[in-house]
Amino acid sequence: MDIERLFDASYVRVLSRELEGQGFFEAFYERFLAASPEVATKFRHTDMARQQVMLKKAFYHLLAFYASSHADYYLQEVAISHSRAYLDISPSLYDLWLESLIDTVRAFDAQFDDEVELAWRLVMTPGIVYMTFHYDRGVRSH
Ligand code: HEM
Repeated sequence: MDIERLFDASYVRVLSRELEGQGFFEAFYERFLAASPEVATKFRHTDMARQQVMLKKAFYHLLAFYASSHADYYLQEVAISHSRAYLDISPSLYDLWLESLIDTVRAFDAQFDDEVELAWRLVMTPGIVYMTFHYDRGVRSH
């Protein structure tokens, strides 16, 4: 099966599930915040329910970027917002982000296997590269 279909099918499965009363994005952020005090500090003033909705929306753009190699305006803005000049999200934190995500998928997807894991990693990686590439380049020109 191709990468996009594997990803889509897994994504449908994880969204349709709750574990210990938590949805997928809630469980992801719980893991991610626990992964490092630096992450928890970055989100200390954040409304996490709202943040979950934002990430869900961003996933659509990450998938579109994987499929098209074209960064839309939304992804450009998110990359700039995470750059040194604004939220200052250092590139090393994206490793924690991806590992927390994969761990959450592993917990939520009953059909999780190596192929599914690889599909998630492949779909997310171009967006992560795009964002970390702009860490030191992310100054708004408008
Ligand atoms: C590919 C990975 C990521 C995606 C798609 C993503 C997506 C988003 C989106 C859509 C927002 C809200 C809009 C914006 O501020 O631009 C946001 C905000 C934020 N993100 Fe990320 N993010 C990613 C990685 C990270 C990482 C690694 C961190 C590290 C701690 C992080 C920390 C934050 C913070 C602190 C905010 C602001 C929260 C607030 O408004 O209080 N993000 N992110």
